[in-house]
Amino acid sequence: MNKENIDIKAFDINAKPADIDWKNLVFGYYPTDYNVRCDFKDGKWGDIYVSSSPNIDVHMAATCLHYGQEAFEGLKAYRGKDGKVRVFRMEKNAERFRESAEGICMEPLPVEKFCEMVRMAVKLNARFIPPYGTGASLYIRPLEIGMTPQVGVKAAREYTVVIFVSPVGAYFKTGFKPSKICISRQYDRVAPKGTGRFKIGGNYAASLRSGNLAHDKGYSAMLYLDPKEKKYLDECGPANFFAVKDGKYVTPASDSILPSITNLSLRQLARDMGLTVEERHIGLDELKDFSEAAACGTAAVCSPVLEIDDLDTGDTYVIARDGKPGPVTTSLYNTLLGIQFGEVEDKHNWCEVIE
Ligand code: PLP
Ligand code: COI
Repeated sequence: MNKENIDIKAFDINAKPADIDWKNLVFGYYPTDYNVRCDFKDGKWGDIYVSSSPNIDVHMAATCLHYGQEAFEGLKAYRGKDGKVRVFRMEKNAERFRESAEGICMEPLPVEKFCEMVRMAVKLNARFIPPYGTGASLYIRPLEIGMTPQVGVKAAREYTVVIFVSPVGAYFKTGFKPSKICISRQYDRVAPKGTGRFKIGGNYAASLRSGNLAHDKGYSAMLYLDPKEKKYLDECGPANFFAVKDGKYVTPASDSILPSITNLSLRQLARDMGLTVEERHIGLDELKDFSEAAACGTAAVCSPVLEIDDLDTGDTYVIARDGKPGPVTTSLYNTLLGIQFGEVEDKHNWCEVIE
């Protein structure tokens, strides 16, 4: 079970940072000290416990290995200018984690348990929280898997939730420099009435081939089209998509995309800036009208788009005409990061300070 006898009170959120080259961190797995776990067994969630092992003991017939019963989340903790550690909108991630679990018939973890586990995972690994000014943050990765051994295709009766953390740098190698993305009608990430709105491993497996194709051709991501008609924009690799058209913030409304918490927040910040926000179908015929566009997500933050290439027709749509991020994207990016790093007033109470 890998249970550690840990007294969390002995841990200090202001622990001396580990000896890491923080500025050159990539977005990847970096081993840390502890992870936090909780098991669902005999019809109930047990006590939260701590492990120092990176391994999970999984039966070879467990449903997570055969039938894809796996859901995950992604959120971040930031060391602010004032030295405080903030976690961004974790209740939203907790709620989405429940929706994803229910979407594939897994037991949903109570929101309060999720939040408590996040607080513990951050505090127990405080020495891995990147110092302010390095541009890095602590990525928090919760996951849930079906543990019951069975061969019939049905949901497990037992589940395990693990939350681990990893210090990370930028997801897109170009950071805030605009990069190219592409469109292809040859691949779908998800089915029209499938599981696209859940954060489950299967969706990401289904995106690997098209993602590799995009990367091999020098694009930072594939911009997926709606899987039914292939007429509308869906989302951008592991991130949502937004554009600026006629001064408005426009972002796809679709049943087959993940409801991004970053996008939700950017829509609010755009409204706060006085912009009109439209969440609606966005047709391919509108690509030519965008003055700005970006991929947005916890990992991607707000990554500006340089151009969109249609791999099937050969058409190219240049978005960042001067090669630089546009004013709306820049302002949204600065405000979002400012809130997360405690430099801009958190008017909507999005951050929780971990003590
Ligand atoms: N869409 C997909 C497919 C993702 O994997 C992510 C990342 O979490 C997002 C969108 C962005 O969601 P969020 O802003 O909640 O991180
Ligand atoms: C995130 O932004 O948190 C994600 O989960 C993206 C990830 C799949 C790298």
